[in-house]
Amino acid sequence: MPRPFARALALAAVAAVIPLASPGTAAADSVVIGGFPVQASAVPWTVAVASRDRFGGTRGGQFCGGVVIGRSTVLTAAHCMGEEALGGPVRELSDLAIIQGRSDLLASDGREIRVRDVTVNPDYSSRTNAGDFAVLTLASALPQGAVIPMAPMGDAAYRPGTSATVYGWGDTTGAGDYARALRGARVEVLPDATCQRAYPGSADGTYVPASMLCAGATGGGRDACQGDSGGPLVASGRLIGLVSWGSGCGQAASPGVYTRVSDVVRKLRPSR
Ligand code: ARG
Repeated sequence: MPRPFARALALAAVAAVIPLASPGTAAADSVVIGGFPVQASAVPWTVAVASRDRFGGTRGGQFCGGVVIGRSTVLTAAHCMGEEALGGPVRELSDLAIIQGRSDLLASDGREIRVRDVTVNPDYSSRTNAGDFAVLTLASALPQGAVIPMAPMGDAAYRPGTSATVYGWGDTTGAGDYARALRGARVEVLPDATCQRAYPGSADGTYVPASMLCAGATGGGRDACQGDSGGPLVASGRLIGLVSWGSGCGQAASPGVYTRVSDVVRKLRPSR
């Protein structure tokens, strides 16, 4: 069983905790191609990462996805916390928050909780995209029922052929049609070799099997897309991936690349 979350502390010890302070300006980057509507209450660990100051209120400020792995701990993508995505340093974001239990970004159900601090994986590489995760600590705790267990290394859920679902509020067409309501798409864990062939090293990134997971639909058509980054890929009730990158969206020859959660578990483990 994955252990609860005392682990962010270990990561916080190696990386400086970034305190959050004041606003700036930016454009949004932005799931789910070939998907279906999902009720947020059915997937309480899926959250939107939002800043109305930076991204405006038309979609509640949503710009990335996240996933609840501890009552006060959310994982998202490291690249979501980067200057390129935010248009400025994360420490200048005064209103960074997560939205939980709210399917429609313009509704007011569920909860909105401020992010108290952000710890970006110090080993994240913006060149390859390896290690694409960040830990968000919330200002107040969510119920235990919102927490999803992370699949540990060796878990059968990582095996190629496993059916998985990705969730998010991202682009539904690849043409900038950002969803207002939460969606999910059914994909399959693919062999590392498929992504190694697709992504041997390009401007988009390089597939690194130790820290990345390859998933998609044979024939394409179902995938995550811009705006889904940081959101969950779930198989057998356990978290196996975070939306990270890909070339285009839903293309058969270019599967989705996810942050491998077993590698996150490993990095968050207190070292002795
Ligand atoms: N980098 C994107 C984001 O920031 C996620 C892209 C995922 N692409 C894919 N084809 N699965 O939202």
